[in-house]
Amino acid sequence: MTVITDKFGRPMKDLRISVIDRCNFRCRYCMPKEIFGRDFVFMPKEQLLSFEEIEHIAKLFVDLGIKKIRLTGGEPLLRRDLPVLIEKLVRIEGVEDIGLTTNGSLLFNMAQKLKDAGLKRVNVSLDALDNTLFKSINDSGVGPEKILKGIEKAKEVGLEVKVNMVVKKGMNDEEIVPMAMYFKEQGIALRYIEFMDVGQSNGWNFNKVVTKKEIFQELSKHFEMEAVDPAYVGEVAKRYRYIGTNTEVGFITSVSNSFCSSCTRARIAADGKMYNCLFAENGFDFRQSLRSKKTDEEIKKEIMSIWSNRTDRYSDERTEESAKHKKKIEMSYIGG
Ligand code: GTP
Ligand code: 5AD
Ligand code: SF4
Ligand code: SF4
Repeated sequence: MTVITDKFGRPMKDLRISVIDRCNFRCRYCMPKEIFGRDFVFMPKEQLLSFEEIEHIAKLFVDLGIKKIRLTGGEPLLRRDLPVLIEKLVRIEGVEDIGLTTNGSLLFNMAQKLKDAGLKRVNVSLDALDNTLFKSINDSGVGPEKILKGIEKAKEVGLEVKVNMVVKKGMNDEEIVPMAMYFKEQGIALRYIEFMDVGQSNGWNFNKVVTKKEIFQELSKHFEMEAVDPAYVGEVAKRYRYIGTNTEVGFITSVSNSFCSSCTRARIAADGKMYNCLFAENGFDFRQSLRSKKTDEEIKKEIMSIWSNRTDRYSDERTEESAKHKKKIEMSYIGG
């Protein structure tokens, strides 16, 4: 079994593939309209990897030890015929898990097709249940009802669903408890995500972060929770269970308690560039490699070389001076 490790001994095990850089939402903390407005230039179609190219590169990564694939965007369900890609990826021998991260707005109509294609799990982003607030966060006029219907449908067709809530101070802290109550009742795992300083456009500053500790304290006033052991080393979320239930609640603590030392995730953007970190500045252009008729062995050598030279650990370093001036890629481009 192939295992490639980086400069800190971290194996390459997961692959996050962004299939599109567009999104139908304009969440203010991710794609603010002032920057991602009408004039913003997204990737032209010919720059996107085709499904065949994604399948090809995914196979090479799987040969090199990848077990888990996650499809992201922008909003991945905007990519036409996405289930066709899922069918291709599911067939790759050695892939143990395929997930999808979506804003849920198109899930109601897509859930059955995704399930039929072989998808097992979806992570749906939802930052508030309050109608006015959610509309103001996504800045696209979509209310929470639509996302909740998508989630319900996904469960109904047999997809495992988790909900991601980015918590930003002054934006949706009031929603911490209502969200927990709602999803506990539904038996759906909710994960609170500390607001991160991804990209150049999201106006991050530390005062806007609500830490896991603060969220946990708030939840403790209403619920009894017990810690759940990590399913594997390097699991992104710290998980708890509401006592007396099977329902979990999790925290993604990239800011207050970084998890870089066990980070096994490689990322590919929709244009075929590979990045070693969510906060990277530069990527390696695999579209070029795929389209220039290099052999599989040559491309695999390139992947090995990139990963084995990896030293990225941004969340450990974010407070250091050198980290402050980085020109980081955008979340909507790399998919989280
Ligand atoms: P599961 O396989 O269901 O655990 O998926 P996941 O939590 O790894 O993926 P998801 O796309 O749902 O991501 C949830 C949040 O974790 C998002 O805000 C991601 O940006 C963040 N996240 C995922 N991986 C990393 C990582 O390697 N570093 C950092 N800093 N954040 C990450
Ligand atoms: N900090 C934390 N999470 C973020 N997401 C988008 N931008 C940020 C940010 N700045 C979340 C999305 C989605 C996941 C892929 O990342 O809401 O759930
Ligand atoms: Fe919002 Fe996700 Fe779209 Fe960003 S990619 S604007 S977080 S829905
Ligand atoms: Fe991995 Fe970079 Fe996230 Fe650290 S900040 S966990 S290295 S992706």
